[in-house]
Amino acid sequence: MARRYLVTSALPYANGPLHLGHLAGAYLPADVYVRFLRMRGEDVVFVCGTDEHGVAITIAAEREGKTPRELVDVYHSVIRKDFEDFGVSFDNFSRTTLPHHYDFAQKVFLALLDKGHISEKSIQQLYCGRCQRFLPDRYIDGTCPKCGSTSARGDQCEDCGSWLDALELVDARCSICGSAPEPRGTRHWFLKLDSFQDWISGFLETREGWRENVLNYCRGWLAEGLRERAITRDLDWGVPVPLEGAEGKVLYVWFENLLGYVSSTVEHFEKLGKPEAWKDYWKDPETRLVHFIGKDNIVFHAINFPIMLHALEDFALTWNVPANEFLNFGGQKQSTSRRTAIWMRDCILNLPADPFRYALTIGAPENRDTDFTWSEFRARNNELADVLGNFVNRTMKFAHRSFRGLVPAAGEPGAEESGLMETIRDIAASVGGKIAGFQIKAACSEAMEAARLCNRYFDRVSPWETVRSDPARCAVSLNTCLQAVDWLRQLFGPFLPFTAERIGRMLGRQRLDWSEIGSPMLQDGAGLGKPEILFEKLEEGFEAQLRTVEAEATSGGGPAAGKAPSQAATEDSGNTVAFEEFRKMDIRVALIEEVHRVEGADKLYRMVIDLGRLGRRQIVAGLRPYYRPEDLEGMKAAVITNLEPATIRGVRSEGMILASDGDTGVYLLEAGPEARPGDLVR
Ligand code: MF3
Ligand code: ZN
Repeated sequence: MARRYLVTSALPYANGPLHLGHLAGAYLPADVYVRFLRMRGEDVVFVCGTDEHGVAITIAAEREGKTPRELVDVYHSVIRKDFEDFGVSFDNFSRTTLPHHYDFAQKVFLALLDKGHISEKSIQQLYCGRCQRFLPDRYIDGTCPKCGSTSARGDQCEDCGSWLDALELVDARCSICGSAPEPRGTRHWFLKLDSFQDWISGFLETREGWRENVLNYCRGWLAEGLRERAITRDLDWGVPVPLEGAEGKVLYVWFENLLGYVSSTVEHFEKLGKPEAWKDYWKDPETRLVHFIGKDNIVFHAINFPIMLHALEDFALTWNVPANEFLNFGGQKQSTSRRTAIWMRDCILNLPADPFRYALTIGAPENRDTDFTWSEFRARNNELADVLGNFVNRTMKFAHRSFRGLVPAAGEPGAEESGLMETIRDIAASVGGKIAGFQIKAACSEAMEAARLCNRYFDRVSPWETVRSDPARCAVSLNTCLQAVDWLRQLFGPFLPFTAERIGRMLGRQRLDWSEIGSPMLQDGAGLGKPEILFEKLEEGFEAQLRTVEAEATSGGGPAAGKAPSQAATEDSGNTVAFEEFRKMDIRVALIEEVHRVEGADKLYRMVIDLGRLGRRQIVAGLRPYYRPEDLEGMKAAVITNLEPATIRGVRSEGMILASDGDTGVYLLEAGPEARPGDLVR
């Protein structure tokens, strides 16, 4: 019987686009897990949505000069697209500003109030006289009373991880105007977490298969003793507190956003015309409720939310919280608010999603913070090409060349064939067990092992020899290789959904069923599709040529568009360049001789340029929206000739053409009529 699973990924704040740290932490592993469960025929609902309240939103809105509403509308769409582009297959992607979420969150607040789990109190809170408002925790900067870090905020010290009370902060300051706030009286509602201390401690002990990092974190937290926590705020952006006399007060974002998992499920089933069906999942004690999150969210998901669900009395309880550590970049946490990150949309603008899915899964920060580097990414991308891509390609090509694109007859399998089949079955069992046990990184490397074995099989049975010496043998081998392509398609299905689809097109078979891995499913004589190259290899230094969405948006995609994402983390505006540095650049007049379109890239031209004494060479530039080929041919423009060569969309580029790039368009920097190809520009 299929089991019920409710799988959630942390609702991302709608305050910016998503970066690779997000993807690697809470979304990609969840998607792999869910795709695997679906392949196994389990009954899964995978929900998420954007988290649209809280100071993360209001601060970002102020920074971008938008209202919170405008901000979340923009980023909800951006984030939704980020997920689509990377194949994150939510059943529903909702928003916490939708009416039914307000409705549900308010109902839960009232239910908990009614059951006596919420108390009302007058408290002192920091009030900024200059700004004339109560300061939300995140609007208060100061020194951490626990570790002395001077970059603590009113709610948390990121350096030591302590959750703080703003009133404990040493030397508190209003982060908007910098003045020292004063405590003032205000009324708030508190969730009595303290009365669940024993329950939650006992509950956590009954959980099986949780990651050590998560349990340790919880133990540490519980050792400090739970305290009641304010679940309302003095703000005008949020879910209103549903009580008379509570005007101007809203539910705390970390009370209400967790309930977004439920309201997203409600919305999902409403769309399916089954408005009551959400209860089959949320109210069934057998449901496996799994939260994929980053480690900064552990306390909310492993302590607060289980307590809330338990206090509501008829809800399923948390089954596992596979929290990941952080995927850093350049040794720093990737941060949306500080804009130091590699953005998912920049990645997808330049490269396909699956190599990122692979690199981030196999290098997942499951147990420790991990640094993302472009050279590691390149190695993983090339590994896909050399191992998985190579096996699929050589098999498909062979089948087309020697068997007219038809699956050859299976014949009598020999020891080699049964050996491979059995090994693949074992691997599938083991990969499945690992995914089910949240060891997604290990599962992924094992899947790659299977692809390696398939290549070895191909080498051992050498069809290129048997095709002449023993055609019947060759047919058996090729049949097995094609079956193996199908097994790999399924084995990689959870990890590389786009690739699995493409392989499926080549085989004429898209069915996804984990139990079929290791059994021959392709029929003798079935027709095969065209072989496609699955992965393009990347050359060293490719990242220097990556374009960014921001640069494309402001420039319309000029030729030199964009600093590479790899540079996004360094803030270097205002830096000067030594003359010596400038002199290293070799800029010359180039005569554009030929201009060609690049297949599949609507902005790019491949151009052959003449550099006089330096000879001819090829460069790639994003000029297609601005110039027709016939207009470019014959122009003389400035080109940097000694930039590291790069491969853009599979085409090699040995230089960068310079152009102005402004609101009125993109214009090549043309040299005068007398300048000759190869002349230096300085
Ligand atoms: N928006 C939060 C963050 O990015 C996560 C919210 S998870 C939820 O840290 F469950 F509370 F919604
Ligand atoms: Zn102020």
